[in-house]
Amino acid sequence: MDLKVIHLEEIKDERGSLVFAETQKEIPFDIKRIYYIFGVENSKRRGYHAHKKLEQVFILISGECKILFEDNKEKKIIHFNNPAEALYVGPGIWREMYGFSKDAVLLVLASLHYSEDDYIRDYDEFKKFVDKKEK
Ligand code: TYD
Repeated sequence: MDLKVIHLEEIKDERGSLVFAETQKEIPFDIKRIYYIFGVENSKRRGYHAHKKLEQVFILISGECKILFEDNKEKKIIHFNNPAEALYVGPGIWREMYGFSKDAVLLVLASLHYSEDDYIRDYDEFKKFVDKKEK
């Protein structure tokens, strides 16, 4: 699956921690957009889509949550709880985010501006998209 854990450097001293990431260094694309998700009730699930071209990096700035990822071969559940660990997510991956703690803030860095045309929101359409990509 086109997922890659990115270990970010944490500069830690008696004042606390600082973590950084730079375009074309830790982040393997030019960042065109950022967005963040917070205030999600623990019982709520979001996502339910894949992207055709978009590349993303997910960073859980605070709290914890889980994300289920799926491509045409496998499913993976990743438990996010470390703000110094980022996850690169390539195109063609279905995702469902859930299990948010009250203090969870999920930051997403994106390679493209927002475009609804890049979304695949129908699961069967996603399956067809990734099967076709494989051939
Ligand atoms: P969506 O990506 O569907 O959220 P999630 O995957 O967390 O369930 O986005 C929710 C709404 O926000 C949807 O109407 C599209 C809009 N939106 C933007 O306008 N710009 C953005 O950059 C993003 C990510 C979403």
